[in-house]
Amino acid sequence: MGASEDQLTDISAEPLKDEPIPDLPLGEGVHERRVSIDDFEAAARRKLPKMAYDYYAGGAGDEWTLSENREAFGRWVFRPRVLVGVSNVSLETTVLGVPMPFPVILAPTAFQRLADRDGELATARAAKALGVLLVLSTISTVPMEEVAATGVDRWFQLYVMKDRSLTAHLVSRAEAGGYGAIVLTVDTPHLGRRLRDERNSFALPPEMGMANLQDVPLPEDADGSSLAKYFGSEHDESLTWDDLAWIRSLSSLPLVLKGIVTGEDARLAADHDVDGIIVSNHGGRQLDGAPATLDVLPEVADAVGGRCEILLDGGVRRGSDVVKAVALGAKAVLIGRPYLWGLAAAGEAGVRAVLEMFRDELELAMALCGRRSISEIDGSAVAPAPGTVPTWAFRGGGGTGFRRAGFVPSGMRESE
Ligand SMILES: Cc1cc2nc3c(=O)[nH]c(=O)nc-3n(C[C@H](O)[C@H](O)[C@H](O)COP(=O)(O)O)c2cc1C
Repeated sequence: MGASEDQLTDISAEPLKDEPIPDLPLGEGVHERRVSIDDFEAAARRKLPKMAYDYYAGGAGDEWTLSENREAFGRWVFRPRVLVGVSNVSLETTVLGVPMPFPVILAPTAFQRLADRDGELATARAAKALGVLLVLSTISTVPMEEVAATGVDRWFQLYVMKDRSLTAHLVSRAEAGGYGAIVLTVDTPHLGRRLRDERNSFALPPEMGMANLQDVPLPEDADGSSLAKYFGSEHDESLTWDDLAWIRSLSSLPLVLKGIVTGEDARLAADHDVDGIIVSNHGGRQLDGAPATLDVLPEVADAVGGRCEILLDGGVRRGSDVVKAVALGAKAVLIGRPYLWGLAAAGEAGVRAVLEMFRDELELAMALCGRRSISEIDGSAVAPAPGTVPTWAFRGGGGTGFRRAGFVPSGMRESE
């Protein structure tokens, strides 16, 4: 029997229950799983002292570049292909001839013992377990020889000190310690102005020092960031392109420049026969206002024209981000904060979990994009998101991404 019209329209009748549906309780002993880098960051934030969390999380100035690095990944969409058969997806690749299980590398990050007692050692063990390459910072809190003893695939990141003999000694120790390349960071003639560290008067605990530099402590009683003070006094800000020959002469290792964000510098790097460049703005920690790395990648790839390998870091937080970076010209990406959050949240196991998440998400993203191998990820895999205009398009330096996507807005072609 149907309801009468009155019953259907009578709002004074039996009220609808507006109680929320009860949340299903997690089973006993079951914890909410961490399913994203944000989840690891939240766990790290709960565990770390504010000074350490701010040091890891923060950027320079207004942190505009820091957030742009992340935003830039939202400016590209996928062009997925279907019905290609994705029962076998291979993530394997090589970088400078080094085979890799998937194109993700651990970026050099300083002071990892602020996150975990074992610091860089825990990171190295996790990387070794998964066959992932690690780049060790000059200012690590574990000596490079101890990291080498884990057997991890490794490169050494170099800061050039005013004391050139100390710099030369670092490079020869790296070569003797089986580090496979020197990664010269070129975006740090001075340390960027990191307001969080200034506010917190960032300093290392007394028992922690820069282990590759005879455990030199940071300057004491610093008003403001003691790391900035250290850089100001010890770091060589006079470095130029001419010094690359000297750095090359210190070892037979390949040379990679980290911190390039323009086509001009990428071209110069290739002219100087470097083996690779890392498109990086130091995770937004140096020049605030520098462009997002993904935005300048097409310009850099155009300028290099295949003369050296290109890597990218900054804001990579998901496996699908790796697909976008590879599509726009990177051979692999580096991650910084994501593994620091893993390290702080759960030590070695946390770094492992973060790397596994990147690997599994990358495999899924490739399958959903219909790309069965890294070499199948080319410019046709992405297009600019509707309504976005990457900044590099205005300068005529790039355009690769637009051209590949078959979309060059009129008025923005390279000749104009
Ligand atoms: C806490 C921290 C310390 C870092 N230390 C170094 C360093 O010692 N040398 C260096 O070349 N880059 C350093 N970087 C920059 C990273 O190598 C990398 O460029 C950056 O973290 C990538 O951005 P992401 O954190 O968004 O992944 C550091 C970054 C962070 C977050």
